[in-house]
Amino acid sequence: MQPVRAARRAVLDDPGLASWVTATGGLLRAAMDTPSPGPVLPPRPDGEPDVAAYLPVLACVDVLPDLLADHALREVPRDVTAATLADVGRMLARNREWFGEAGLGDELAGWLTRHLHGALFEIGRLQYERVRLGEGAGLELQMAGFPCGPGDLTLNLHIPGEGGSLTPEVVDASLAGARAFFRKRFPDERYAVLTCHSWLLDPQLPEVLPAGANLAAFQRRFTVGGVSDHDGDTSVRKFVFGDVDTPLTDLPQDTSLRRAVVGLLRRGGHWQDHSGWLAWR
Ligand SMILES: CC(C)(COP(=O)(O)OP(=O)(O)OC[C@H]1O[C@@H](n2cnc3c(N)ncnc32)[C@H](O)[C@@H]1OP(=O)(O)O)[C@@H](O)C(=O)NCCC(=O)NCCS
Repeated sequence: MQPVRAARRAVLDDPGLASWVTATGGLLRAAMDTPSPGPVLPPRPDGEPDVAAYLPVLACVDVLPDLLADHALREVPRDVTAATLADVGRMLARNREWFGEAGLGDELAGWLTRHLHGALFEIGRLQYERVRLGEGAGLELQMAGFPCGPGDLTLNLHIPGEGGSLTPEVVDASLAGARAFFRKRFPDERYAVLTCHSWLLDPQLPEVLPAGANLAAFQRRFTVGGVSDHDGDTSVRKFVFGDVDTPLTDLPQDTSLRRAVVGLLRRGGHWQDHSGWLAWR
């Protein structure tokens, strides 16, 4: 909390910093209760790096009363609100792990915008983001035979690293919870499909994991589609090793997945993020 307090003091003394926090809070407020895509964070003002790193946390604090009011209006259970907002703390830890830096860089601060305008909710083990399909994603789904297209609503699934194994039971429980949640809290919205974009959907994964691996069972739930434009090797390095820079020879080899990831990369192969879809009724 100490660096957040220091940033808060700096903001009180510096109108340039204060206007970034107010403007960012304003963008989030303007998007409140709408599906993603939400606002893009404005470029941060110049200043002390230790202060700039914590400005997104202050923007979270700025918008928090409005977010809580939005959740109250939708009658979101308190445990869902708490679990959803716990991601702020997790992203502060992840920023140190992935980038070796305190605070929130643009990547993870940008990720949190969807939580802060009421588009994303953590329900059980998984996170669900209300999304309005863009042109490319909409056409891809249409061509895959799903009853939706550009402009339609879907739910995008995210898998936090925290929360333990991704057993079929926890996934089933989360999906059932989410179906009930969205029917009750967003009766005005219909989602044609559940989408997911992840390295977890790389079809090479089940081939290298032990029989009975949770990741393979998770992937089997989806119709796996095309390769996303994210760099899959980087995704895997981040989510499996928490690091993108360590030479392959120095990466830990303590799990079957870690051995398989390094094995493929050393053979000159690559990991890929894929899209996947699951019918949603
Ligand atoms: C999703 C997650 C919880 C699945 O873990 P799980 O339930 O243990 O998965 P599996 O049962 O398929 O694991 C099979 C093997 O791979 C290992 N493994 C799975 N995920 C791993 C990870 N992220 N890092 C290192 N090893 C991992 C397991 O320890 C197990 O090893 P073992 O055979 O030596 O015992 C885990 O991958 C994770 O925390 N991922 C980070 C979040 C993420 O990637 N989200 C998606 C972002 S797009």
